[in-house]
Parts: sequence; C-alpha cells; structure tokens
Amino acid sequence: MTFFKTALAGVIATSFSIGAVFAEPITIKFSHVVPASGHPKGEAVEFFKQLVEERLAGKVVLEVYPSGSLYGDNKVLEAMQLGDVQLAAPSLAKFERFTKAFQIFDLPFLFEDSKHAEAFQNSDSGRSILGEMEKAGFVGLDYWSLGMKQLSANKPLLTPADAEGLKFRVQPAAIIGSQMRAIGANPQVLAYSEAYNALQSGVVDGAENPWANIWSAKFFEIQDGITETNHGAMGYVLVASTDFWGGLPDDIRTELRSIIDEVTVYERKIAGERNATARQSILDAGSEIRELTPEQRQAWVDAMRPVWNEYQDEIGADLIEAASTTKSN
Ligand code: LMR
Repeated sequence: MTFFKTALAGVIATSFSIGAVFAEPITIKFSHVVPASGHPKGEAVEFFKQLVEERLAGKVVLEVYPSGSLYGDNKVLEAMQLGDVQLAAPSLAKFERFTKAFQIFDLPFLFEDSKHAEAFQNSDSGRSILGEMEKAGFVGLDYWSLGMKQLSANKPLLTPADAEGLKFRVQPAAIIGSQMRAIGANPQVLAYSEAYNALQSGVVDGAENPWANIWSAKFFEIQDGITETNHGAMGYVLVASTDFWGGLPDDIRTELRSIIDEVTVYERKIAGERNATARQSILDAGSEIRELTPEQRQAWVDAMRPVWNEYQDEIGADLIEAASTTKSN
C-alpha cells in the first residue's frame, strides 16, 4: 500500500513536472504604429521584449508588431477589447472617447515641456485619470512620453493667419479639432499610417507632430519646413484589457509589472534624446525649422488658448489648475 502510494505520488509528480516543462508559454501581442528603432516608443517596446526574454523565458513570449503591421492606432483599442491583441501604447488623444478626463493632455499650451507633463502624470491627479480607464475595460499600466508637438504645412507657417483655410491631419480627439478650428484651419481625422500619403497627395496640407514622428515617418520630406511651436505635449498610455491583465497568473503579472516599471523609466529617458536627434537629422536633411520669437509664439497662444474655455467644464477647472501648477521634477 505504502509502495503503491509512493509510486502514485511519483507518477503525479512526474506528470506535473512534465506539464510544467511543456506548458505553452503565454503569447502577448504588442501592436504599435511607429518603427522599432529611432523612436522612443519603438525602442522601448524592443527593450520590453528583451527583458521578457531574459526574465520570463518559457513562460511568456512577447510578439511585437511595429509600424502598424497588425493594427492601426484607430483600431487597436477595439481589437484589445475583443482579445485579439494584449498590449499597445496609443497616444493619449486616442483615449478621449473612453474618458473625457484624457482631454486635459491635449489642451494647447498647457504643458511647458515633456517634463512638466510627466510630473503631472505622476501626480495623484494624473494617476487617477489612468484609473478611470477601468470603466471602459482597460488597465492603464503607465504613461510613456513622446515629446512636444510642432506644426507643419505645405507652406511656411509663422503666424496663425498662415494656417487659415488649410487642412490639417489630426488624431481622433475633439479638442485637437477645436484647436485647429481656432486658428481658422480644417481638421481632418486620419489614422497615423494614412498621414504621409494624405500629406503627399494633398488630401491634407499640414499636421502636428513631435520631432521623433516628423523624422521617423519622413513628414519633413513633404512639408515646407517645420514651425517650432511646442504647443502641446504628446504621450502614450501603455494599456491592456482588464480581462487579460486580471487573468494572468499572479507571478507572471508581478514580473511583468516590474519589467514595465523599468521600461517606463527607460522610455522617458530616451524620449528627449530621440527627439533632439530627430530635430538635428531634419535640419541636416536640409529642411527648414522655423523658431518663433516670444512675440510670434504668443500670437499662437492667443489664437489657440480660447479652446480651454470650451472644454473647461468637461475636464474640470480643478484638474486644469492642478496640471498648470504642477512643478517639473
Ligand atoms: C499619431 O497618431 O499621431 C500618434 O499617435 C502616432 C504615435 O503613436 O506616435
């Protein structure tokens, strides 16, 4: 009997260890729309993959789909709700349709620079906005940074009047549409992957993008220079569905969480560097960068800033005040 019990225990133990050895790793698909190198988001996702390979070998496989090769950024959140993709890092503007508090990130001339936006994102108010995504079935795992937005068009832009009547490609955020109408321009919502062709074929005349995007997507090639407005901070949310994230085994979720913390520090560190390199590369490629005098920049502030009044009630005056007065680290 004792022998039988011991033998049975041995069989059970063996089948468990065989089961553990042959258990299928969890496949996590990460879909994004920028190149895997030369861009802070693309490079951060590659670093993420490397850390998963080092620390979760045999347990998790991170499949990365860069440059919109799996989903465009206007589709990825729906695909995530359906369970077809597990991780993404869409820009903050893509979340406005799920929770209005995200509109704060696209208020023109609110954040001085990316460090200011990051300090607000790290504050209690910033963290609470991330938490609001749960209502829509998403877990906001962290904020990532991109950089300050610049304006460009197929003609030089120095004053807001130069933008009058032009069509600008915008992300799907009402507030960005209002910002473009405030300067007399016509906003046209287009997926990121469609922006280059739309600019080249004249479907739209201009766009707003940070340096890393202007360089990596080659927008500078088909625009008449870039105007350095720094009129808004652009960033991302690293996001998963609540079903997927909550359904992970505890040990794997804990390890992924610590990897994400490390990748977030890395992403924010390289964002500034990649934008500086991109700006220089655009200059080296012979494109003109128009720097504004304080007076010239103030004219853009005066033209765009009234948008705040339109959105103040939806966003909340307290939240806007908290963001404006947050001190950069
Ligand atoms: C855009 O739509 O302009 C950006 O979200 C693209 C990106 O991911 O940087």
